[in-house]
Amino acid sequence: NEDDFDIFALHKKIGDDQLLVSVCANVFLQYNFISSLGVSIPKLIQYFRALQSHYKTSNPYHCGMHAADVLQTTNVYLCCGDVKENFSDVELIAVLFSAMVHDIAHPGISNAFLTAVNHPLAKLFNDTSVLESMHTSLAFILLERADCNFFSSSTTWQKYHADDFRSLVIQVVTGTDMKHHSAMIKSVEDILDDGQIDDDEVAQLFKAIVHAADLSNSMKDLPVYINWMERVNAEFWQQGDEERRRGMTISMMCDRNNTFISKSQCGFIEFVVLPYMQKLAPVLPPVWLSRLEDNLKFMKELTTDQENTIKRRIKRPASKPWADDSTHPFS
Ligand code: CMP
Repeated sequence: NEDDFDIFALHKKIGDDQLLVSVCANVFLQYNFISSLGVSIPKLIQYFRALQSHYKTSNPYHCGMHAADVLQTTNVYLCCGDVKENFSDVELIAVLFSAMVHDIAHPGISNAFLTAVNHPLAKLFNDTSVLESMHTSLAFILLERADCNFFSSSTTWQKYHADDFRSLVIQVVTGTDMKHHSAMIKSVEDILDDGQIDDDEVAQLFKAIVHAADLSNSMKDLPVYINWMERVNAEFWQQGDEERRRGMTISMMCDRNNTFISKSQCGFIEFVVLPYMQKLAPVLPPVWLSRLEDNLKFMKELTTDQENTIKRRIKRPASKPWADDSTHPFS
C-alpha cells in the first residue's frame, strides 16, 4: 500500500507472467476476509492466474499491468485515513475483486468503436457499457470454474454474502465506464460532505474509488505517469489506425498524425482528473494532489523537443496493427 509504488520497476523484476498474480496476492493477503469468509487460498491464487491469462499482453495500456496498478491504487485509497475500517469483509473483498477484474479481456479498443462497427460484443450488450458489461460477465464466469471458486468450500460464506458481493461488483465495474464521470463528481461531493459513510452510500463510494484508481496515472511520480501516458496514447493510436483503415472518423486523441501530447494531457488533467480528485481529496494521499499539479505544470511547459521525443517513443509499441481477438464471455 505504498503511495510511491513503481509498477514498472516490479514488472521489470518479475515479468508479465507473474505481475498481476503477485500484486493480487500481496494485496488480498493483507485482509481479514481470507479467514473470516473462509476463502480458499489455492483457489484464490488459481483465480488470479486465470485472470492474468485473460488480460491481453499485447495491449500497451489495458493489460494485466494496468489491472495490477488499479488494484494497488485502490488499496492505497482504502488504507488512506483508514477508510477501510468503515466496511464489512464482504464489501472489502468486493471492491478489491472489482479493481482487479475491471478491464479483464479488454480488446484495446473503445466502446464507441465496438458500437460503431456493430461488433458481436456490442450486439450482446445492446451498445450499453459494452466493455464494462463484458468484464463483469467474464469475471463471474471465471469464478464459476471449480478450480477458481475460492468461496465454494467456505463454511461461513452465505447466499446473502454472494448476493451482496455480486451486486457490488456489477455496480463498481460498470461504474468504470467514463460516461458516468460527471455524475460521479457530484456523487463524491454528496458522500464525503458530512464526514460519514451511510450504508446506502457504500456502493457509490466504491464506484468512486475504483474509478479514481482507473484515472490515477497522472498523480503518480513523473516517470511512472509518463510511461502510462505513452502507453495510453499508443493504444489510442492503434485504434486510430484501425479507424483510418476502415474509413471511419478517427476518434479524439486517436490520430497519430494530429495529436499534441502537451495539449491533450493538459486538457485531460484540467477538465477530467483534477476536478474529480479535488472532491476525493479526503481519501487521497495528500502528496498525490500536489504531484498532479506538478505533472500538469510539466505538461504545460513541455518543449517541442520533449514533445517529439515522447511521440517517437509512443510510435514504437504501436507498430503492430490492432487485431480483433476479443474474448466473448459465453464462448
Ligand atoms: P478506460 O480505462 O476505459 O477509462 C478511463 C479512461 O481514461 C481510459 O480508458 C483512457 O481513455 C483515459 N485515460 C487514462 N489515462 C489517460 C491519460 N494519461 N491521458 C489521456 N487519457 C487517459
